[in-house]
Amino acid sequence: MTLPVTARTPFGGDYNPEQWPAEVWKEDYRLFDAARIDTVTLGVFTWAKTQPAEDVYDFTTLDLIVAEAAAQGRGICLATGTGAHPAWLARAHPEVTRTDFEGRKHRFGQRHNSCPSSPVFRRLSTELAGRIAERYAGNPAVIAWHIGNEYGGSCYCDRCTAAFRSWLRRRYLTLDALNTAWNTTFWSHTFHDWEEIEAPSALTEHWRGPDHTAFQGITLDYLRFMSDAMLANFRDEKAAIRRHSPDTPVTTNFMGMYRPIDYHRWAPHLDFASWDNYPPEDESPAWMGLSHDLMRGLKGGQPFWLMEQAPSMTACRDVNPLKRPGVMRLWSWQAVAHGADAVLFFQMRASRGASEKLFSAVINHAGRDDTRVFREVAALGQELEGLGSVALGARTPARTALLFDWDSWWALEISDGPSRLVRYQRVVLGYYRALWEAGIDVDVVPVTADLSGYDVVVAPALHMVKGDLAARLEEVAGRGGSVLTTFLSGRVDEDDNAFLADVPGPLAPLMGIRIDEWDARGPEFVNPVRLESGSGGSGGSGPLESEARLLFELVVPRGAEVIGTYTADFYAGSPAVTRNSFGDGHGWYVAAGLDQAGVGWVVRQVLDTHGLAGRHPELPQLESAARVAPDGTRLLFLLNHAAEPLDVPGGPAGVDLLTGERIEPGRPFRMDSHGVRVLREDG
Ligand code: GLA
Ligand code: ZN
Repeated sequence: MTLPVTARTPFGGDYNPEQWPAEVWKEDYRLFDAARIDTVTLGVFTWAKTQPAEDVYDFTTLDLIVAEAAAQGRGICLATGTGAHPAWLARAHPEVTRTDFEGRKHRFGQRHNSCPSSPVFRRLSTELAGRIAERYAGNPAVIAWHIGNEYGGSCYCDRCTAAFRSWLRRRYLTLDALNTAWNTTFWSHTFHDWEEIEAPSALTEHWRGPDHTAFQGITLDYLRFMSDAMLANFRDEKAAIRRHSPDTPVTTNFMGMYRPIDYHRWAPHLDFASWDNYPPEDESPAWMGLSHDLMRGLKGGQPFWLMEQAPSMTACRDVNPLKRPGVMRLWSWQAVAHGADAVLFFQMRASRGASEKLFSAVINHAGRDDTRVFREVAALGQELEGLGSVALGARTPARTALLFDWDSWWALEISDGPSRLVRYQRVVLGYYRALWEAGIDVDVVPVTADLSGYDVVVAPALHMVKGDLAARLEEVAGRGGSVLTTFLSGRVDEDDNAFLADVPGPLAPLMGIRIDEWDARGPEFVNPVRLESGSGGSGGSGPLESEARLLFELVVPRGAEVIGTYTADFYAGSPAVTRNSFGDGHGWYVAAGLDQAGVGWVVRQVLDTHGLAGRHPELPQLESAARVAPDGTRLLFLLNHAAEPLDVPGGPAGVDLLTGERIEPGRPFRMDSHGVRVLREDG
């Protein structure tokens, strides 16, 4: 099963009419009509209303809400509402609340606060999901099921500890295998009974916080276990839904690059992926591009839903900037450009009270339809309606893959040494940004993905190398492709133990190098790296001096050619970037934390080898992304992230579906400030 079947890109979002008297609902739908809002996500936080006591279910409110949405002709994304448990539940069954990393047993409060291992929580959340599905499955307005909300966090209670032990028994079968995996002879940790194993927390193995642990093996396994424990909650609810609703697709809203949950392990259990886009800065198009591509990669390139985004300001940050005119539209189209088949907001009408009352909404507290935000939402609704179904189901024709791996992320960031300053997301984003600035379509895929269709595979900070990955990367290079990896790759196996071999472990033959030492320095220290195309090197880029920071690995070439060299310290003149001929292709290794210009330089060299030049590399603020529809229609999305207009020297022949304007091949055209064009290329 895949995405909900819709006639156009669903547009709308989280709608909480339960917070309002019914007169307001009529007005809401009048405004939804004006904004072409055709889809509402209902019931995300209605558990306490729907089940006011353990043995009482009361669907009066949800019935009215669902009936009104259906009568008004909207598609409904219906939530199970289990993201926030009711107060009576915590009071009657204190086991449902979590125990935090510091060992504090929580009481009722907040949301996203249920212990995933609590049998009572599992029973009652499953029961509720089943009852909701039973009641509304027959309603044709329900186009998707939305389980829980933004799964995340963790629990360290006794029930979770017991469940962890069972998880470990299933994984390792014997204590001997576990002791070997965790290297427990270190610090006299050998376990002789499963019951001796404690959850790794501030009270046990940790010493400064969740990333500082004496035993990486147990901490890594707890991260895996907690992700699986919440996945079990999701699967319980999904199974309950499926008993009543065999054909309606099920999702839950992910959070892009969210560290605690391994979305690759979850993805097979969702019918389609969806996510909530709240970029960390207000100026972060490459970060969003990476997140969208990661979400698209969860289901093998199948489109996803943008389940939430803010119409303008958020509220939970210290400072909450508004989205400048045109930016909400631009970012919405960016999502579509990267594979979103729905554009949804949080929230339809602003809450009157509590922590999100100042979070932006399509409809503000005054209920106006003449605000800037409402007008921009309505204009976007009209554009999406005008686009019709042409982009639905369209795929991204990428020849470049970027590997993203939660295990590597976890292992790298819980490691003692070499540097706490090297952050997985920053490294990955740097390489993604270089591809993005070059105007290259990228699939962001798990390490288990089929790599046979790619010319270029970029694997930044691939700290952990599992299974047959090294062999599959060798295959890419062997048949003429390029594999690029960086410092801190190939360091540990699946158990987070070092390879008993030269660094970078199983990647060493492909990279044609050996690393014996590495130097980690503070952010102020720079060792400039001189980059020069090697012999037979392609590409027009001249030499460049890149400021390298944070980590400097000392490379001993074992067949690889030197592309970049350190210029300072006792290792001045030694290699910092190498390229190794392997089969018909290459293995590239970047041993230092190059600045963005340096990363861009190396990435362009790699792309040049394959004629992947990018569409407008001279205009880094102009993003371009392609999608190919099931009927073969090619769409080219052009997005101007600059606040100034841009003149584009020329593009492919096609029609801009947003304006009807024809773009002639090679003829210059203009992009407005924050402007968007959706070109249907001539067939
Ligand atoms: C998240 C949640 C929503 C809402 C928004 C805004 O994405 O899923 O319920 O809280 O953030 O903060
Ligand atoms: Zn727990």
